[in-house]
Amino acid sequence: MCGIVGMINGHPVASDLVSGIQRLEYRGYDSAGVATVDGGQIRRRRAVGPVSALRSLVDQVPLPGHAGIAHTRWATHGAPSEANAHPHVVGAVGVVHNGIIENHDELRDELLAIGRTFESQTDTEVVAHLLDLALESCGDPMMALREVSTRLEGSFAIGMIVSSDPDALYATCRNGPLVVAQEPGAAYLASDGSAIAPFVDAIQVLECGDRAELRRGHIRVLDERDREVERPTRSVRESEAEAGMGEFPSFMMKEIHEQPEVLERQLAAYVDGATGAIRLPVETLADKDQLILSACGTSYYACLLARYWFEEIAGMPCRVDLASELRYRNPALSDRHGAIFVSQSGETADTLAALRLVESVGMRSLAIVNVEESAMAREASFVIGTLAGTERGVASTKAFTAQLFALLCSAIELGRLRGRIADDEVQSLINEVLHTIPQAVILTIACSARLQAYAESLASQPRAIFVGRGPSFPLAMEGALKLKEIAYVHAEGFAAGELKHGPLALIEEGTPVIAIAPHDALFEKSLSNVQEAAARGAAPFILTDADGIGRALKLGDALVIPQVPALAQPFAYATALQLIAHHAATAAGNDVDRPRNLAKSVTVE
Ligand code: F6R
Repeated sequence: MCGIVGMINGHPVASDLVSGIQRLEYRGYDSAGVATVDGGQIRRRRAVGPVSALRSLVDQVPLPGHAGIAHTRWATHGAPSEANAHPHVVGAVGVVHNGIIENHDELRDELLAIGRTFESQTDTEVVAHLLDLALESCGDPMMALREVSTRLEGSFAIGMIVSSDPDALYATCRNGPLVVAQEPGAAYLASDGSAIAPFVDAIQVLECGDRAELRRGHIRVLDERDREVERPTRSVRESEAEAGMGEFPSFMMKEIHEQPEVLERQLAAYVDGATGAIRLPVETLADKDQLILSACGTSYYACLLARYWFEEIAGMPCRVDLASELRYRNPALSDRHGAIFVSQSGETADTLAALRLVESVGMRSLAIVNVEESAMAREASFVIGTLAGTERGVASTKAFTAQLFALLCSAIELGRLRGRIADDEVQSLINEVLHTIPQAVILTIACSARLQAYAESLASQPRAIFVGRGPSFPLAMEGALKLKEIAYVHAEGFAAGELKHGPLALIEEGTPVIAIAPHDALFEKSLSNVQEAAARGAAPFILTDADGIGRALKLGDALVIPQVPALAQPFAYATALQLIAHHAATAAGNDVDRPRNLAKSVTVE
């Protein structure tokens, strides 16, 4: 949450800094700001709202200066306002910060007691004061960063400029993502590679406790013990460098359309073309008595769905936990458990803490993450990359189906390792299921216009109910989450069989009930539940396949989703639900990529 960028080069940087944070808007868009050093002074511009508001300001009143920092904010301490927008400038320093300083109250009292005054309610301004004081006493920005870091509790990535040096940027991080990059005559820092991808060929990912001094063409990194270190460099990925939405109306829609390509990429990476073997690091899980899967939000729903696969295909008992609950319980953990953590960002504070909890008791965790240099990828014992490329839409789409694909392949490989399925059955699953999945998504996307027609009617509804049975139950929850987060329609996903245990009371004349009902062994039961709702006035919309459509149309509106093998169905239905949410949000006039109050990487608890 919050995105930071810093740049130094041979020409004014303000405009490029704004472009950089524009690429980080998925991390927050409550307010934005930029500051540069010029002629011994720190100058800044700040604006409430998305980065485009700052862009207009900077275009109208340009900022000079060849070194600067910028920030896009997701408010934690203090409302979105210009005073609370970063950069915070105190005395000789300008600071941008991503993360939370947990002991900011105590530090603020200490600073007030020595006569310091505050302009904002942010925890960041406290850091700026401390850095200003430390710099005043030691005169060295790197030392000041070290001194101040030791006083801070919580997680942070900080970028700093100092008025006395127009040729340097400084940065440090603890449990917050930060990358740096150098090019001839220039240097950059950012929350992630995508912000600076247009300017650089390669990046270095800083580690917890690192501090960096950036000068034109040169970066010095010191680790926590003050030793000069060289962090590994990696090339900028194609998806990080991609500029925009292309022909699509939103990043979310672009990412929905990217799903077939991502799934093909995963197939090529996970399945050995020559031997047909699935190559994923799941061997250590095979002899466990139980799997614990944990995540937040959409990634949690991917885990709930995968439970059906781990139990059915691999015969492994499975429990699924919200990471924010797992980490604060005293969970019964033993070496008989295998733990899997699922996250797009690899940064989500609760999932990371749950992973650390598991590793701290000597268990080895598997992280299924999209951002491969994230904290979770670094700290887990085993990692599966979901290969979805940078996901910019706040509502997760391609990362979700990529998580499902990684989990399905893991379940198949575990089934083989545990002797539940023979090699020839694995081959059939690869050929008859995995290979059909990208096409299933393509065919579902082709139903977009019909889904749009339905979704437009949803946009004005006060509430919507999603139902499903079996793997379609977690999908119902995911469909409801998507609709809530971008269309702002109050939606809930229920197990179809649970409707009569309470939720039926919500049904009024015309209440939309969206049923995920492929024609499988549970189809008739799901339909009976929809019928019970329809008898009380609900307006059903049934997503089913060619075999189910005849029956479904007798109950209400229905749509044929491509007929694919059962294990491939969730990919098709998930795509349909994403399209429904997108079209409903667009019909409501909402900004699909910037849903209110949300941000993508949830690095706070
Ligand atoms: C919903 C969504 C969120 C995330 C959740 C976890 O569309 O994107 O619910 O799934 O914040 O994030 P990650 O997967 O990065 O741990």
